[in-house]
Amino acid sequence: MAPRWAPPAGLVLLMLLLTPAAVRGDKPLRGGLSGAGKEPEASSAVFPLYGDVYPHGLYYVAMNIGNPPRPYFLDVDTGSDLTWLQCDAPCISCNKVPHPLYRPTKSKLVPCVEQLCASLHGGLTGRHKCDSPHQQCDYEIRYADQGSSIGVLVNDSFALRLANASVVRPSLAFGCGYDQQVGSSSEVAPTDGVLGLGSGSVSLLSQLKHHGITKNVVGHCLSLRGGGFLFFGDDLVPYSRATWTPMARSAFRNYYSPGSASLYFGGRSLGVRPMEVVFDSGSSFTYFAAQPYQALVTALKGDLSRTLKEVSDPSLPLCWKGKKPFKSVLDVKKEFKSIVLTFANGKKALMEIPPENYLIVTKYGNACLGILNGSEVGLKDLNILGDVTMQDQMVIYDNERGQIGWIPTIPFMDLRKVIVGLNSLGSLVFRMKIAQPITAQIKRDYQGKVTAH
Ligand SMILES: *[C@@H]1O[C@H](CO)[C@@H](O)[C@H](O)[C@H]1NC(C)=O
Ligand SMILES: *[C@@H]1O[C@H](CO)[C@@H](O)[C@H](O)[C@H]1NC(C)=O
Ligand SMILES: *[C@@H]1O[C@H](CO)[C@@H](O)[C@H](O)[C@H]1NC(C)=O
Repeated sequence: MAPRWAPPAGLVLLMLLLTPAAVRGDKPLRGGLSGAGKEPEASSAVFPLYGDVYPHGLYYVAMNIGNPPRPYFLDVDTGSDLTWLQCDAPCISCNKVPHPLYRPTKSKLVPCVEQLCASLHGGLTGRHKCDSPHQQCDYEIRYADQGSSIGVLVNDSFALRLANASVVRPSLAFGCGYDQQVGSSSEVAPTDGVLGLGSGSVSLLSQLKHHGITKNVVGHCLSLRGGGFLFFGDDLVPYSRATWTPMARSAFRNYYSPGSASLYFGGRSLGVRPMEVVFDSGSSFTYFAAQPYQALVTALKGDLSRTLKEVSDPSLPLCWKGKKPFKSVLDVKKEFKSIVLTFANGKKALMEIPPENYLIVTKYGNACLGILNGSEVGLKDLNILGDVTMQDQMVIYDNERGQIGWIPTIPFMDLRKVIVGLNSLGSLVFRMKIAQPITAQIKRDYQGKVTAH
């Protein structure tokens, strides 16, 4: 059985804890003349997250889309721009998903002359083809984990409850995906689609900004115990307390990159070349390129106490067992040192990665390294900080100021309150939702497949 969407009781509490007034003192001055009040102030929206790093391998959000609004589960992905739903257009290849497939109507198709279609094509393939103004906007997106979706851009309303208590229903463009290659097709997929929160203009975030609803800022807290929350807008951002680095946009397209980092383990530099780092909530694990991966593994192994023995575990490539099985990462944390990344772009910005942000304790009671060899999966020189490393921190992607920030979770945010049971989502997912540049042209043969409902 797929989990059913029900408003979690804890959401109310979360909203109270996160009421903008509670952090107002920390807000920067807004631009513009005080009191002039010409434009309505953008608000914020907060959503509970579900899921965990292990065993489910993803964090997702429930969004209400369409008219009447229906709930869909979306994989939260800061590594790509396009939001899409598995879709009955009709569907050529869809997974079993938690909710009935989204059904588009002809009137919801976004024509290819729209600016959003041009920027979507520009971002995905580097070229935009639009032969007649009424032609639909086809897309094909591929991810680093080989998952893909082919579909058309549609435009439908999203029901969003804002922190100022208003409910807004903007029409936002997203993909209606009718041909997917995602995971195994026999199992029920944990989500109905992907929530693309990259910095490109088709990102939901950029569209909300365009509609004047929220600022182009997104943040998340992924709890170590599962669940957490996601927010759009800057009301909750602890500006003065977070660590910030400027975004380095040019290197990796619309990815969120704090630029290049130096790697330390146990206070010692590992002497590797500067690493190009990207923050990606769409990856379950962290990936280091071959050289830093090798250096880290060597340092880790050289440092372990004799109470830990390397063991093979089907969950992950590198695991250790203790005298008795570990129940949680807290049982084994003291045997490992912290990893530290320092960022050349941010003045003295550093990110501490304690053992609980790079180790997983599996159901067999072993401790496994949650940092994987990115070269093995074709990531080349890109280093991805995935969910495992971002747990129990608020991570903020601030496109307004072009900066990325992080701060260990503020203790008063009791994330346990927003956790719901997730018992039947299948096995561990190695997901790497980060959009790949694709060489294949948008598949023209699929044109006209979308039929009116
Ligand atoms: C809340 O914010 C939205 C978006 O800026 C705005 O349209 C709406 O009027 C605000 N509602 C209230 C009650 O202030
Ligand atoms: C989406 O729909 C709204 C309302 O129907 C319309 O105003 C807007 O232009 C549409 N946007 C796109 C990109 O088609
Ligand atoms: C990482 O992957 C690359 C490419 O497959 C391989 O050459 C290298 O030996 C791997 N490193 C380690 C430490 O396993």
